[in-house]
Amino acid sequence: MAQQGSVFSLTTPAVLIDEIIVDKNIARVQKYMDEAGLKARPHIKTHKIPEFAKKQLAAGAVGITCQKISEAQVFADAGINDILLTFNIIGEEKLEALKALHNQITLTVVADSTHTVDGLAKTFSAERPLRVMVECDTGGQRCGVQTPREATELAQYIAEQPSLKFVGLMTYPMPNTEDNVEAFFEQTAGLLKQAGLECEIFSTGGSPSLFSAERTTIANEYRAGTYIYNDRSLVRAGHCGFDDCAMHILTTVVSRPTESRAVLDAGSKALTSDLLGFTDFGYVVDYPEAVITGLSEEHAVVDLSACTKKPEIGEKIRIIPNHTCVVSNLMDNIYVHKGGEFDRKLDVAARGKVW
Ligand SMILES: Cc1ncc(COP(=O)(O)O)c(C=O)c1O
Repeated sequence: MAQQGSVFSLTTPAVLIDEIIVDKNIARVQKYMDEAGLKARPHIKTHKIPEFAKKQLAAGAVGITCQKISEAQVFADAGINDILLTFNIIGEEKLEALKALHNQITLTVVADSTHTVDGLAKTFSAERPLRVMVECDTGGQRCGVQTPREATELAQYIAEQPSLKFVGLMTYPMPNTEDNVEAFFEQTAGLLKQAGLECEIFSTGGSPSLFSAERTTIANEYRAGTYIYNDRSLVRAGHCGFDDCAMHILTTVVSRPTESRAVLDAGSKALTSDLLGFTDFGYVVDYPEAVITGLSEEHAVVDLSACTKKPEIGEKIRIIPNHTCVVSNLMDNIYVHKGGEFDRKLDVAARGKVW
Protein backbone atom coordinates (compact mmCIF):
# COMPACT_ATOMS: atom_id res chain seq x y z
CA MET A 1 0.00 0.00 0.00
CA ALA A 2 1.52 3.35 -1.04
CA GLN A 3 2.32 5.22 2.15
CA GLN A 4 3.56 8.63 1.26
CA GLY A 5 2.14 11.76 -0.31
CA SER A 6 -1.59 12.25 -0.58
CA VAL A 7 -3.82 9.86 1.35
CA PHE A 8 -5.89 9.60 -1.84
CA SER A 9 -3.20 7.22 -3.12
CA LEU A 10 -3.93 4.67 -0.36
CA THR A 11 -5.51 1.35 -1.24
CA THR A 12 -9.14 1.25 -0.13
CA PRO A 13 -11.10 0.89 2.01
CA ALA A 14 -8.87 2.76 4.44
CA VAL A 15 -9.67 4.74 7.55
CA LEU A 16 -8.08 8.18 7.43
CA ILE A 17 -7.62 10.28 10.55
CA ASP A 18 -6.70 13.93 10.19
CA GLU A 19 -4.40 14.70 13.11
CA ILE A 20 -4.85 18.46 12.73
CA ILE A 21 -8.57 17.98 13.42
CA VAL A 22 -7.91 15.50 16.26
CA ASP A 23 -5.64 18.02 18.00
CA LYS A 24 -8.18 20.79 17.48
CA ASN A 25 -11.03 18.67 18.87
CA ILE A 26 -9.02 17.70 21.95
CA ALA A 27 -7.96 21.30 22.60
CA ARG A 28 -11.49 22.67 22.16
CA VAL A 29 -13.07 20.22 24.60
CA GLN A 30 -10.26 20.43 27.17
CA LYS A 31 -10.56 24.24 27.17
CA TYR A 32 -14.30 23.93 27.76
CA MET A 33 -13.78 21.41 30.59
CA ASP A 34 -11.18 23.65 32.23
CA GLU A 35 -13.49 26.66 32.05
CA ALA A 36 -16.43 24.63 33.38
CA GLY A 37 -14.31 23.34 36.29
CA LEU A 38 -14.67 19.73 35.17
CA LYS A 39 -11.95 17.10 35.17
CA ALA A 40 -11.81 15.46 31.76
CA ARG A 41 -11.60 11.68 31.72
CA PRO A 42 -11.98 10.84 28.00
CA HIS A 43 -13.53 7.55 26.94
CA ILE A 44 -11.02 5.81 24.68
CA LYS A 45 -13.49 3.41 23.08
CA THR A 46 -13.71 5.89 20.20
CA HIS A 47 -10.09 5.51 19.05
CA LYS A 48 -8.69 2.50 20.97
CA ILE A 49 -5.17 3.88 20.39
CA PRO A 50 -2.80 4.59 23.33
CA GLU A 51 -0.95 7.33 21.42
CA PHE A 52 -4.21 9.28 21.14
CA ALA A 53 -5.04 8.73 24.82
CA LYS A 54 -1.64 10.19 25.65
CA LYS A 55 -2.49 13.27 23.59
CA GLN A 56 -5.69 13.64 25.66
CA LEU A 57 -3.72 13.31 28.90
CA ALA A 58 -1.07 15.76 27.73
CA ALA A 59 -3.86 18.26 27.04
CA GLY A 60 -5.03 18.01 30.66
CA ALA A 61 -7.19 14.91 31.13
CA VAL A 62 -6.86 13.38 34.61
CA GLY A 63 -7.10 9.79 33.41
CA ILE A 64 -9.05 7.75 30.89
CA THR A 65 -12.28 5.79 30.77
CA CYS A 66 -12.49 2.30 29.26
CA GLN A 67 -15.51 0.12 28.75
CA LYS A 68 -13.89 -3.32 28.96
CA ILE A 69 -11.09 -5.00 30.94
CA SER A 70 -9.21 -6.28 27.89
CA GLU A 71 -9.36 -2.77 26.42
CA ALA A 72 -8.09 -1.23 29.68
CA GLN A 73 -5.26 -3.77 29.79
CA VAL A 74 -3.90 -2.47 26.47
CA PHE A 75 -3.82 1.09 27.80
CA ALA A 76 -2.31 0.06 31.16
CA ASP A 77 0.43 -1.84 29.31
CA ALA A 78 1.07 1.31 27.29
CA GLY A 79 1.80 3.17 30.54
CA ILE A 80 -1.53 4.83 31.37
CA ASN A 81 -1.98 4.50 35.10
CA ASP A 82 -5.38 5.95 36.00
CA ILE A 83 -8.36 4.18 34.46
CA LEU A 84 -12.09 4.21 35.17
CA LEU A 85 -13.84 1.10 33.89
CA THR A 86 -17.52 1.93 33.37
CA PHE A 87 -18.80 -1.60 33.37
CA ASN A 88 -20.35 -4.09 35.79
CA ILE A 89 -17.67 -6.80 35.99
CA ILE A 90 -19.28 -10.21 36.39
CA GLY A 91 -17.70 -13.68 36.38
CA GLU A 92 -14.57 -15.35 37.82
CA GLU A 93 -12.30 -14.95 34.81
CA LYS A 94 -13.00 -11.25 34.46
CA LEU A 95 -12.63 -10.67 38.18
CA GLU A 96 -9.19 -12.32 38.11
CA ALA A 97 -8.17 -10.11 35.16
CA LEU A 98 -9.50 -7.09 37.05
CA LYS A 99 -7.37 -8.02 40.04
CA ALA A 100 -4.24 -8.16 37.89
CA LEU A 101 -5.09 -4.77 36.41
CA HIS A 102 -5.68 -3.32 39.89
CA ASN A 103 -2.15 -4.38 40.88
CA GLN A 104 -0.77 -2.44 37.94
CA ILE A 105 -2.61 0.92 38.00
CA THR A 106 -5.05 3.16 39.88
CA LEU A 107 -8.29 1.49 38.89
CA THR A 108 -11.89 2.51 39.56
CA VAL A 109 -14.93 0.45 38.52
CA VAL A 110 -18.68 0.85 38.70
CA ALA A 111 -21.45 -1.33 40.11
CA ASP A 112 -25.23 -1.11 40.02
CA SER A 113 -26.14 -4.22 42.05
CA THR A 114 -25.16 -6.13 45.14
CA HIS A 115 -24.40 -9.02 42.76
CA THR A 116 -21.59 -7.00 41.14
CA VAL A 117 -20.40 -5.69 44.51
CA ASP A 118 -20.27 -9.20 46.02
CA GLY A 119 -18.04 -10.41 43.17
CA LEU A 120 -15.72 -7.45 43.61
CA ALA A 121 -15.70 -7.76 47.41
CA LYS A 122 -14.54 -11.37 47.38
CA THR A 123 -11.86 -10.73 44.74
CA PHE A 124 -10.06 -7.81 46.33
CA SER A 125 -8.52 -7.36 49.75
CA ALA A 126 -8.45 -4.79 52.53
CA GLU A 127 -4.70 -4.21 51.99
CA ARG A 128 -5.44 -2.62 48.61
CA PRO A 129 -9.16 -1.84 48.36
CA LEU A 130 -10.72 -1.39 44.93
CA ARG A 131 -12.29 1.98 44.17
CA VAL A 132 -15.99 1.57 43.28
CA MET A 133 -18.60 4.05 42.03
CA VAL A 134 -22.36 3.50 41.96
CA GLU A 135 -23.75 3.64 38.43
CA CYS A 136 -27.02 5.62 38.30
CA ASP A 137 -29.71 5.55 35.62
CA THR A 138 -30.62 9.21 35.21
CA GLY A 139 -32.80 8.54 32.16
CA GLY A 140 -30.45 6.73 29.78
CA GLN A 141 -32.30 3.48 30.51
CA ARG A 142 -29.26 1.25 30.28
CA CYS A 143 -27.48 0.15 33.47
CA GLY A 144 -27.77 1.93 36.78
CA VAL A 145 -29.70 2.04 40.02
CA GLN A 146 -33.08 3.66 39.55
CA THR A 147 -33.41 6.08 42.45
CA PRO A 148 -31.23 8.22 44.75
CA ARG A 149 -32.31 5.99 47.64
CA GLU A 150 -31.09 2.85 45.85
CA ALA A 151 -27.85 4.65 44.99
CA THR A 152 -27.33 5.47 48.65
CA GLU A 153 -28.11 1.94 49.80
CA LEU A 154 -25.66 0.47 47.31
CA ALA A 155 -23.02 3.03 48.31
CA GLN A 156 -23.50 1.97 51.94
CA TYR A 157 -23.19 -1.69 50.95
CA ILE A 158 -19.91 -0.94 49.11
CA ALA A 159 -18.61 1.05 52.05
CA GLU A 160 -19.29 -1.92 54.36
CA GLN A 161 -16.93 -4.16 52.34
CA PRO A 162 -13.37 -3.95 53.73
CA SER A 163 -11.93 -4.79 50.29
CA LEU A 164 -13.77 -1.95 48.53
CA LYS A 165 -13.85 1.83 48.76
CA PHE A 166 -16.92 3.82 47.73
CA VAL A 167 -15.66 6.82 45.75
CA GLY A 168 -18.57 8.30 43.85
CA LEU A 169 -21.51 8.32 41.48
CA MET A 170 -21.39 7.72 37.74
CA THR A 171 -24.03 8.13 35.06
CA TYR A 172 -24.23 7.93 31.27
CA PRO A 173 -27.18 10.21 30.56
CA MET A 174 -29.24 10.92 27.47
CA PRO A 175 -28.04 14.06 25.67
CA ASN A 176 -29.59 17.34 26.86
CA THR A 177 -30.73 15.94 30.20
CA GLU A 178 -28.24 17.81 32.37
CA ASP A 179 -31.06 18.85 34.72
CA ASN A 180 -32.05 15.22 35.38
CA VAL A 181 -28.47 14.37 36.24
CA GLU A 182 -28.24 17.39 38.52
CA ALA A 183 -31.43 16.40 40.37
CA PHE A 184 -30.43 12.73 40.75
CA PHE A 185 -26.89 13.52 41.92
CA GLU A 186 -28.04 16.33 44.27
CA GLN A 187 -30.63 14.15 45.97
CA THR A 188 -28.18 11.28 46.30
CA ALA A 189 -25.49 13.60 47.65
CA GLY A 190 -27.93 14.72 50.37
CA LEU A 191 -28.76 11.14 51.33
CA LEU A 192 -25.10 10.11 51.32
CA LYS A 193 -24.31 13.00 53.63
CA GLN A 194 -27.04 11.88 56.02
CA ALA A 195 -25.54 8.39 55.91
CA GLY A 196 -22.11 9.80 56.72
CA LEU A 197 -20.59 8.77 53.41
CA GLU A 198 -18.12 10.89 51.53
CA CYS A 199 -18.64 11.16 47.77
CA GLU A 200 -15.47 12.20 45.98
CA ILE A 201 -16.53 11.91 42.31
CA PHE A 202 -19.69 12.89 40.44
CA SER A 203 -19.08 11.62 36.92
CA THR A 204 -21.24 12.26 33.88
CA GLY A 205 -20.50 12.11 30.17
CA GLY A 206 -21.35 11.97 26.49
CA SER A 207 -20.37 14.10 23.51
CA PRO A 208 -23.67 15.25 21.90
CA SER A 209 -24.51 17.86 24.55
CA LEU A 210 -21.02 18.16 26.01
CA PHE A 211 -21.00 21.94 25.72
CA SER A 212 -23.92 22.11 28.17
CA ALA A 213 -22.00 20.13 30.79
CA GLU A 214 -21.68 23.10 33.14
CA ARG A 215 -25.43 22.90 33.73
CA THR A 216 -24.79 19.88 35.92
CA THR A 217 -23.15 22.00 38.59
CA ILE A 218 -22.54 19.13 41.00
CA ALA A 219 -20.55 17.07 38.47
CA ASN A 220 -16.78 17.20 38.80
CA GLU A 221 -15.69 14.67 36.15
CA TYR A 222 -16.74 14.34 32.52
CA ARG A 223 -16.31 11.36 30.21
CA ALA A 224 -16.53 12.18 26.53
CA GLY A 225 -15.44 9.80 23.80
CA THR A 226 -16.66 10.59 20.30
CA TYR A 227 -15.54 14.24 20.40
CA ILE A 228 -11.96 13.30 19.49
CA TYR A 229 -12.97 12.25 15.96
CA ASN A 230 -16.57 13.51 15.74
CA ASP A 231 -18.98 11.93 13.25
CA ARG A 232 -22.20 12.48 11.37
CA SER A 233 -24.30 11.92 14.51
CA LEU A 234 -22.46 14.72 16.31
CA VAL A 235 -22.94 17.07 13.36
CA ARG A 236 -26.68 16.33 13.60
CA ALA A 237 -26.54 16.98 17.36
CA GLY A 238 -25.06 20.44 16.69
CA HIS A 239 -21.82 19.59 18.50
CA CYS A 240 -19.62 20.23 15.45
CA GLY A 241 -19.57 20.67 11.67
CA PHE A 242 -18.47 18.24 8.97
CA ASP A 243 -15.12 20.06 8.84
CA ASP A 244 -14.54 18.98 12.45
CA CYS A 245 -14.83 15.27 11.61
CA ALA A 246 -11.36 13.72 11.76
CA MET A 247 -12.35 10.27 10.45
CA HIS A 248 -13.02 9.62 6.79
CA ILE A 249 -13.36 6.21 5.23
CA LEU A 250 -11.64 6.33 1.88
CA THR A 251 -13.42 4.12 -0.64
CA THR A 252 -13.26 3.41 -4.38
CA VAL A 253 -16.17 3.36 -6.83
CA VAL A 254 -15.99 -0.20 -8.18
CA SER A 255 -19.15 -0.22 -10.30
CA ARG A 256 -21.63 2.14 -11.98
CA PRO A 257 -24.30 -0.37 -13.03
CA THR A 258 -26.85 2.36 -13.87
CA GLU A 259 -26.89 6.12 -14.41
CA SER A 260 -28.06 6.71 -10.85
CA ARG A 261 -26.19 3.97 -8.99
CA ALA A 262 -22.60 3.70 -7.79
CA VAL A 263 -21.16 0.85 -5.77
CA LEU A 264 -18.25 1.37 -3.35
CA ASP A 265 -15.72 -1.12 -1.98
CA ALA A 266 -16.71 -0.48 1.64
CA GLY A 267 -19.68 -2.29 3.15
CA SER A 268 -20.84 -3.05 6.66
CA LYS A 269 -17.36 -4.41 7.49
CA ALA A 270 -15.87 -0.95 6.98
CA LEU A 271 -18.69 1.57 7.51
CA THR A 272 -20.68 -0.48 10.09
CA SER A 273 -24.42 -0.90 9.70
CA ASP A 274 -24.98 1.42 12.67
CA LEU A 275 -27.70 3.85 11.61
CA LEU A 276 -27.93 5.84 14.87
CA GLY A 277 -31.31 7.11 13.77
CA PHE A 278 -30.30 7.94 10.19
CA THR A 279 -31.91 6.14 7.26
CA ASP A 280 -28.65 5.91 5.26
CA PHE A 281 -25.14 4.75 6.03
CA GLY A 282 -22.86 7.78 6.16
CA TYR A 283 -22.19 11.22 4.70
CA VAL A 284 -20.48 11.26 1.30
CA VAL A 285 -18.02 14.13 1.67
CA ASP A 286 -17.14 14.45 -2.01
CA TYR A 287 -20.74 14.11 -3.27
CA PRO A 288 -22.98 15.50 -0.51
CA GLU A 289 -26.19 14.80 -2.50
CA ALA A 290 -25.31 11.11 -2.82
CA VAL A 291 -27.18 8.73 -0.51
CA ILE A 292 -25.76 5.41 0.70
CA THR A 293 -28.98 3.46 0.60
CA GLY A 294 -27.74 -0.04 1.33
CA LEU A 295 -24.79 -2.07 2.52
CA SER A 296 -23.74 -5.63 2.12
CA GLU A 297 -20.59 -6.83 3.82
CA GLU A 298 -18.16 -5.42 1.28
CA HIS A 299 -20.29 -3.18 -0.95
CA ALA A 300 -22.09 0.11 -0.42
CA VAL A 301 -24.87 0.97 -2.84
CA VAL A 302 -25.11 4.70 -3.49
CA ASP A 303 -28.05 6.52 -5.02
CA LEU A 304 -26.74 9.34 -7.25
CA SER A 305 -30.16 10.58 -8.45
CA ALA A 306 -29.76 13.93 -6.71
CA CYS A 307 -26.17 14.51 -7.87
CA THR A 308 -25.49 16.85 -10.77
CA LYS A 309 -21.89 15.59 -11.01
CA LYS A 310 -21.43 11.82 -10.64
CA PRO A 311 -18.34 9.79 -9.75
CA GLU A 312 -16.60 7.54 -12.28
CA ILE A 313 -15.48 3.95 -11.78
CA GLY A 314 -12.07 3.99 -10.08
CA GLU A 315 -12.68 7.34 -8.36
CA LYS A 316 -11.90 7.53 -4.66
CA ILE A 317 -14.46 9.15 -2.41
CA ARG A 318 -14.58 9.81 1.33
CA ILE A 319 -17.34 8.92 3.77
CA ILE A 320 -17.96 10.33 7.25
CA PRO A 321 -19.50 7.48 9.24
CA ASN A 322 -22.71 7.80 11.20
CA HIS A 323 -20.89 6.44 14.27
CA THR A 324 -17.12 6.65 14.34
CA CYS A 325 -16.44 4.48 17.43
CA VAL A 326 -17.74 1.30 15.85
CA VAL A 327 -15.59 1.84 12.74
CA SER A 328 -12.48 1.93 14.95
CA ASN A 329 -13.27 -1.53 16.22
CA LEU A 330 -13.38 -2.88 12.66
CA MET A 331 -9.93 -1.78 11.58
CA ASP A 332 -6.44 -3.13 12.35
CA ASN A 333 -4.90 0.19 11.35
CA ILE A 334 -5.70 3.78 10.68
CA TYR A 335 -3.83 6.17 8.40
CA VAL A 336 -2.92 9.40 10.13
CA HIS A 337 -2.55 12.44 7.90
CA LYS A 338 -2.26 16.18 8.18
CA GLY A 339 -4.63 17.95 5.83
CA GLY A 340 -4.41 15.09 3.31
CA GLU A 341 -0.65 14.40 3.49
CA PHE A 342 0.07 10.89 4.80
CA ASP A 343 2.02 10.95 8.06
CA ARG A 344 1.96 7.49 9.67
CA LYS A 345 0.07 4.25 10.04
CA LEU A 346 -1.10 3.40 13.57
CA ASP A 347 -2.29 0.09 15.00
CA VAL A 348 -5.71 0.23 16.57
CA ALA A 349 -4.19 -1.53 19.56
CA ALA A 350 -7.40 -2.29 21.48
CA ARG A 351 -9.40 -3.26 18.39
CA GLY A 352 -11.46 -6.37 19.13
CA LYS A 353 -10.84 -6.08 22.88
CA VAL A 354 -14.48 -6.45 23.85
CA TRP A 355 -14.51 -8.60 26.96
C1 LIG B 1 -20.27 4.91 30.13
C2 LIG B 1 -19.95 5.84 29.03
N1 LIG B 1 -19.35 7.00 29.31
C3 LIG B 1 -19.03 7.88 28.34
C4 LIG B 1 -19.29 7.60 27.01
C5 LIG B 1 -18.87 8.59 25.98
O1 LIG B 1 -19.93 9.00 25.19
P1 LIG B 1 -19.67 9.82 23.83
O2 LIG B 1 -19.00 8.90 22.90
O3 LIG B 1 -20.99 10.28 23.40
O4 LIG B 1 -18.77 10.95 24.19
C6 LIG B 1 -19.92 6.39 26.69
C7 LIG B 1 -20.25 6.07 25.30
O5 LIG B 1 -20.66 5.01 24.94
C8 LIG B 1 -20.26 5.49 27.71
O6 LIG B 1 -20.87 4.33 27.46
